[in-house]
Amino acid sequence: MVNVAVLGFGVVGSGVAEVLSTNEKHIGQKADGLICLKYILDVRDFPDSPFAGKVIHDFSIIEHDPEVSIVVETIGGTAAAKDFTQRALRAGKSVVTSNKELVAAHGYELLQLAKEYGVSYLFEASVGGGIPIIRPLNQCLAANQIEEICGILNGTTNYILTRMIRAGLSFDAALREAQANGYAEQDPTADIEGHDACRKICILASLAFGRHIYPSQVPAEGITGVSLADIAYAGAAGKKIKLLGRAFRQNDSAVCAFVAPHLVDLENPLSGVEDVFNAIAVKGNAIGDVMFYGRGAGKLPTASAVVADVIDAAKQRDSRRRLEWGPGGADAAVAPDSVRSPWYVRLEQGSKEELSSRLPQAQFLERAGAGAGELALLTGTDMTRAALDAALSGLKPGSVFRVLR
Ligand code: HSE
Repeated sequence: MVNVAVLGFGVVGSGVAEVLSTNEKHIGQKADGLICLKYILDVRDFPDSPFAGKVIHDFSIIEHDPEVSIVVETIGGTAAAKDFTQRALRAGKSVVTSNKELVAAHGYELLQLAKEYGVSYLFEASVGGGIPIIRPLNQCLAANQIEEICGILNGTTNYILTRMIRAGLSFDAALREAQANGYAEQDPTADIEGHDACRKICILASLAFGRHIYPSQVPAEGITGVSLADIAYAGAAGKKIKLLGRAFRQNDSAVCAFVAPHLVDLENPLSGVEDVFNAIAVKGNAIGDVMFYGRGAGKLPTASAVVADVIDAAKQRDSRRRLEWGPGGADAAVAPDSVRSPWYVRLEQGSKEELSSRLPQAQFLERAGAGAGELALLTGTDMTRAALDAALSGLKPGSVFRVLR
């Protein structure tokens, strides 16, 4: 029998307890032995929960209990979560987590610590919620040199954009719905400003390209600037606005990664990824294009990925298959300055003649209810952001209202 302790009884932690208990027999068969939830650590009590008897408040009980061999960290953040993870690994316990913030910030050192103590640090649930992506990238695609990863990595923002596109909902109303459904982070800023997707693309890039990529090296733009007007113009151009996390090899040693809203063609499968669903497209030099799709947030989908790691940790106690990547550094990532893209530009006030002379291949877009003088265009040609800024320089200050890839 394997004993597990869950740290943090929030949305994901309570989902893990539920899945372990509901699927106990099936999980036992998969793990070649019973997996038993022994403790739940939280600062709160849960007197009405069926798991109330397992709740404790002192981590050292778990740390010093030799019967506990796997710790599930679903606290989130990098403070207590990091301390408890390090202590659990040093105590010879494998740690399974959904905490992308911690993995993105300290994955390299925690993986090294796990290696040193002969245990596992697993984080399938940290990217893509219930979608298997970490293990496939590490194992199934191991024969490939990964060339590019591009994904919808945040369920909350995809839900918000879908509701704005399909129901014409305001950003605020759609965000409230996402929060009510338990998709959003405690502080939704991390979702809507792109920080959550940034952490996830960092984890994928580290795994795929072999060096730790830190969130501070990855420019992230969220969706707070996307309006219903932009959505209407994108629709007129046969495109949907999606928040994409992208990472690709820039040269032999450096990776370029960034997060930004993009206008995505309807023919691109990522445009059909709606609601809380996530999808991650990977290009490998042997396999070509492959895509992973599923529920990217929510209690039980995320718990599904956590429990799969628990089963893996339980089965691999004697022969560990480790996740690993090398140390990061200033030279591991480069900014997307040299990336050439087609661009969408919306101006509060503009003249087609002037814009046509600056951007000769511009395609102008129309929408119902546009304000007088409002203009929106696609550049019609790929260019760097610097080249676009140069083409727009000298326009009336404040007239350029939105620029999207
Ligand atoms: N807030 C995250 C999202 C949860 O919406 O995708 C899953 O990581």
